[in-house]
Amino acid sequence: MPYLVLLGAPGSGKGTQASVLAKALGVPHVASGDLLRAHVAQQTELGRMAHQYMTRGELVPDDVTIAMVMERLDQPDARQGAVLDGFPRTVVQAEALDARLAERGAGVDRALLLVVPDDELVRRLAGRWLCRQCGASYHEVSNPPRQPGRCDRCGGPLFQRDDDTPTVVRKRLAVFREQTLPLLDYYRRQGKLVEVDGVGEIAQVREALLAAALGTPA
Ligand code: AP5
Ligand code: MG
Ligand code: ZN
Repeated sequence: MPYLVLLGAPGSGKGTQASVLAKALGVPHVASGDLLRAHVAQQTELGRMAHQYMTRGELVPDDVTIAMVMERLDQPDARQGAVLDGFPRTVVQAEALDARLAERGAGVDRALLLVVPDDELVRRLAGRWLCRQCGASYHEVSNPPRQPGRCDRCGGPLFQRDDDTPTVVRKRLAVFREQTLPLLDYYRRQGKLVEVDGVGEIAQVREALLAAALGTPA
């Protein structure tokens, strides 16, 4: 079972696709943003610290996210594989992930990059609604829930993220370009990067991702 890294700008569809991809592959979906938001909601010390960075659209310091994600990957269900969403986001995080997986005789099998133009990202984030209970992601125009404000999957209440405001979205896009784009070269050099067109029907993007996840590297 594989360790897959899903890369992409804010709004590129990582969360939408990762949960389904993980289910199809029989591995857990590990999303650093969801783990951080759970800490914020529970008002843990980590959550209070991380929240300041998140509301500004900046990255939470590497040591914090690395420790948090490694703890998750140490749990029994993630010892054979996982779909990683939002982590790694810096070269330091990627190196920490490689070191930890090497200890268990594994490694990142593939890094899949969802490619979506900026204007589409902004449009998607402005209309996004998320499930408070299960994390499912909706869009008020392109992927509306059957009943407004309620999750199709679990019936939980939907909410909008406080970092989806225009100013913070612009900042998150800039941070992605400056701090996460260098990661592409890191995985490209290892022959692990596969670019996938992230524009189109959600089901169509999912098929392309699955093919890229399971196919032989280019
Ligand atoms: P995180 O939660 O990871 O947010 P992000 O990277 O900004 O990405 P998003 O979750 O906003 O987008 P997504 O790609 O998941 O898109 P989605 O599927 O929802 O991180 C948040 C913050 O936490 C960071 O800013 C940072 O502060 C901190 N953080 C997290 N990880 C960290 C790390 N490793 N290191 C340091 N700090 C970290 O889709 C978006 C919308 O588009 C939805 O409405 C969806 O319905 C719609 N949509 C999806 N696909 C399509 C499609 N094909 N067509 C039309 N609409 C679509
Ligand atoms: Mg997400
Ligand atoms: Zn739900």
